[in-house]
Amino acid sequence: MKDFKRMLYGGDYNPNQWPREIWDEDMRIFRLADINSATVNVFSWAKIQPGEDEYDFAELDEIMEMLKKENYDIVLATSTAALPAWMVRRYPEVARVDYEGLRHKFGQRHNACPNSPVFQKFSRRMAQKLAERYGDHPNLACWHISNEYGGECYCENCEKAFRVWVKKKYGTIDAVNKAWNMHFWGHTLYDFDDIVAPNALSDGIGYEKTAFAGISIDYRRFMSDSMLENFKAERDAVREFDKETPVTTNLMGSYKGLDYFKWAKEMDIVSWDNYPAYDTPWSSTAMHHDLMRGLKDKPFMLMEQTPSQQNWQRYNSLKRPGQMRAQSWQTVAHGADTIQFFQLRRSVGACEKFHGAVIEHSGTENTRVFREVAELGHELKALGDTLLGAKNSAKVGIIFDWDNYWGLEYAVGPSADLKYVPQLQQYYAYFYERNIPVDMIPVDADFTKYSAVVAPVLYMVKDGMQEALENYVNQGGILLTGFMSGLVDQSDNVHLGGYPGPLRKLCGIWAEEIDALAPEQTNVLKFTDGTDAACSLLCDIIHLEGAESLANYGSDFYKDTPAVTKNAFGTGKVYYVGTKPDAVGLRKILDMLCADADIKPLVGEETKLEIACREKDGKRYWFVLNLTGKPQPMIGAFADKTDILKGRTLKAGEMLENWDTLLYVE
Ligand code: GLA
Ligand code: ZN
Repeated sequence: MKDFKRMLYGGDYNPNQWPREIWDEDMRIFRLADINSATVNVFSWAKIQPGEDEYDFAELDEIMEMLKKENYDIVLATSTAALPAWMVRRYPEVARVDYEGLRHKFGQRHNACPNSPVFQKFSRRMAQKLAERYGDHPNLACWHISNEYGGECYCENCEKAFRVWVKKKYGTIDAVNKAWNMHFWGHTLYDFDDIVAPNALSDGIGYEKTAFAGISIDYRRFMSDSMLENFKAERDAVREFDKETPVTTNLMGSYKGLDYFKWAKEMDIVSWDNYPAYDTPWSSTAMHHDLMRGLKDKPFMLMEQTPSQQNWQRYNSLKRPGQMRAQSWQTVAHGADTIQFFQLRRSVGACEKFHGAVIEHSGTENTRVFREVAELGHELKALGDTLLGAKNSAKVGIIFDWDNYWGLEYAVGPSADLKYVPQLQQYYAYFYERNIPVDMIPVDADFTKYSAVVAPVLYMVKDGMQEALENYVNQGGILLTGFMSGLVDQSDNVHLGGYPGPLRKLCGIWAEEIDALAPEQTNVLKFTDGTDAACSLLCDIIHLEGAESLANYGSDFYKDTPAVTKNAFGTGKVYYVGTKPDAVGLRKILDMLCADADIKPLVGEETKLEIACREKDGKRYWFVLNLTGKPQPMIGAFADKTDILKGRTLKAGEMLENWDTLLYVE
């Protein structure tokens, strides 16, 4: 597989939405920013295939030729993320049927039924044609299949394909009835044809919940697989003509709809689109970068970010002066090998005309945004290939799993406020704030690489997981889990015999009941050393079965019973956090866990600066970022050293301005 030769710096570029005379002006301006890459053809299906048997690549040829003259690394999209009008007119089945059961007309994007044979045929053929034509183009750096796969379809084609998928998975209708617990409410299925797509017309309870999580989780798996088949079909079509160029599709962080760990196995390189809101905590952005790196345990591409402003958030604040640079370096610090924008020139019309771009509506390079893009471009150019492929390493692994995500959020009870990602986020934030690197890992990761494995809301314990976790702890691993863990199997049926089911022995506890607290209610965590903290959301009522209590509840009828426990198992230890602690409580628990697992921050001194490290060829690259919103003192670890971005040397205690970013190599 071809590797990138330099850090790709550029982004989505749609010259075909503009008159020809603008293109040269674009090139002139991009040169000023050391832009070296463009992602083209993302939404061009209608233009390059104006009819069923008509293809017209003249304009794309011209774009490719222009980018070649500029020595660009081209990211070539296959254009199949928005259906052309002729296709929907002629074959209405290519459009989706939504959750409410409505058949969609021509419109929007990401709008194809993944199980439509017509869509499958045309999208595959398009990828083939493009690969045949451009597969050996000297400037082709990466294939970008479709765009941001997602959404769902509930049409008849999908329903039929789902029956086939279910049959393949379970074999008999009896096995299906058992897996989905269909004797409940007399939903007994007699035949595979009785299976209908679970949406508002059948078992859905609003969009978020379902009467039968078993079928709904399987439908999510099926949708994820269906779109993955679309991706694979285009990828394989590309491979018929081009064996060398890496293939990706742009992912969306913790987007719920697709099992990205499964997807990543089919992708050569992961890429993703990072769009935090004005109030998204930096720890959340960092966690999502780590998740995207974790999908393949490899550096990733930042396929999209806005240089300045988004348009689809509720409040689309500008990135403040210096913010885009800092945010880009944070991305690189967590494993990105490219920095790409959406988009290079701001649209003249439609819903993205107020979305930021490298060239704004004023049409010139004389803007704050452009100057900042150029500043970063010069820095990246100066670094060349220095950081490409550099590795991040971590001793803490946090488990992220889409089956668990789906299962937990489909659960009807005990609390409607229970959401998957925020539960992981609060644990991640503890490590982030202490500059302890984290890997986001799948349920089937090699746990033995980690000193500690953190697995909150490990709701669904699938086959093999009990053994894998027991084995890890037996050999000295430190595991943390807690409420809503070990409850169900892969089909969302409860592991009978007492919570946390298969984790009971490991945790050395039995959680007899789960109390739900309303937002205005809290309980108290009374730690054995006298510290008090608050807790909320859910409270497991726990009996010790070998574990010791680290904190008991302070009120209610379960006052003085264990809330947080620790169990010795083999040569390792297992923490069980039976409730949602506040920041004080969480710190206490995780401080103990870090002590047990001998996990230390990257630097010894306390600091609010973000520190991250990537390694390559025996060298360590240290990123020092101030994302705190106010000046912060330089720490001793990097004092008097010279940063390689701007050649600055700071003394200990000297102030770093907000958004300051320094990079040191040793
Ligand atoms: C997504 C899409 C882009 C664009 C941006 C705007 O990430 O992939 O086409 O719409 O959002 O933020
Ligand atoms: Zn469909």
